Amino acid sequence: MKPTIYVTRKVPEPIYAKLSKSCHVNIWNEPDIPVPREVLLEEVKEIDGLFCLITETIDQEVIKAAPHLKVISNMAVGYNNIDVEAAAESGIIVANTPGVLTETTSDLTFALLMATARRLVEANDYLKKGQWKTWSPLQMTGQDIYGSTLGIIGFGRIGQAVAKRASGFHMDVLYYNRTRKQEMEKTLGVRFTDMETLLKESDFICLLVPYNKHTHHLIGEKELKLMKSTAVLINTARGGVVDEQALYQALINEEIWGAGLDVFKREPVDPALPLLMLPNVVALPHIGSASIATRMRMANLAADNLINALENKEPVMRVTL
Ligand code: NAP
Ligand code: GLV
Repeated sequence: MKPTIYVTRKVPEPIYAKLSKSCHVNIWNEPDIPVPREVLLEEVKEIDGLFCLITETIDQEVIKAAPHLKVISNMAVGYNNIDVEAAAESGIIVANTPGVLTETTSDLTFALLMATARRLVEANDYLKKGQWKTWSPLQMTGQDIYGSTLGIIGFGRIGQAVAKRASGFHMDVLYYNRTRKQEMEKTLGVRFTDMETLLKESDFICLLVPYNKHTHHLIGEKELKLMKSTAVLINTARGGVVDEQALYQALINEEIWGAGLDVFKREPVDPALPLLMLPNVVALPHIGSASIATRMRMANLAADNLINALENKEPVMRVTL
């Protein structure tokens, strides 16, 4: 008998076909609305496998409601939406999609850095609203990228891919990471520093750590005060890595120059959030990995992880504690 799975969002047709070949598939077939919590709790009761997104919180309550569950396959590299310890205690495998989105997410990180530094969104609005009356020396002036110093916090797959892009701009790259990556220092021409040095010396700071209890508010009031008044903060990790209130204060007090944010504490973000009212904040709706090819790769990998685990094989990518 085929195992039963629940898929928490409409997925591309080839992915649905692949899953249907080996599983009996129940699906929340809405493209843009997340599955309501009560529906999820009901749907997981009889399933063997769960294919989910970062929009679903898979906590103890969901895990307890799913006594037959063998695998949770997250279509994302980040898995802070899943209680991995509770899953392990119940013998449930957790899988994710690292690697296949590295280049796309680092492209977006660099695009956000450039858009914030050179005020691209503000300049676009200025032109389209008919405010552009003449060329003038200080009009829409921003920060130089070429030859500046970039600090990367979280020097894993995406952090290293951002460093590669920075070398084309002759940036001096500093990094801070939980463990030193000495082997990468020569290859990528980067320097390991402590957090304080990185915050004080960088013109641009990119956050690329996973979100967990150790990285919650890694950037708060104290860290923002250490940054240059001309610094630009880029967050493509998770919203909770930055204290949003402290960031707002730092921006209005001109303690830092700008921020580019792809992620927020609460998503979807409330458009009335004061941070979003600031012209020097470029905000995106969590689109780091959003290229057509990469989203297909992620969905394929999440499907393969799920199918493998249900066939008692090792998932391609398994989250370990
Ligand atoms: P990764 O390869 O695991 O890299 C994460 C790096 O952060 C690792 O090098 C890790 O150190 C380091 N780290 C972990 N905890 C730390 C801490 N407390 N202090 C300093 N460094 C710490 O992951 P990745 O594939 O690059 O992805 C990174 C994160 O980006 C994901 O977890 C996800 O939240 C986010 N992301 C966002 C988007 C988006 O759409 N915006 C897309 C993809 C990913 P070790 O080397 O010691 O493990
Ligand atoms: C997206 O945010 C991911 O973690 O894949």
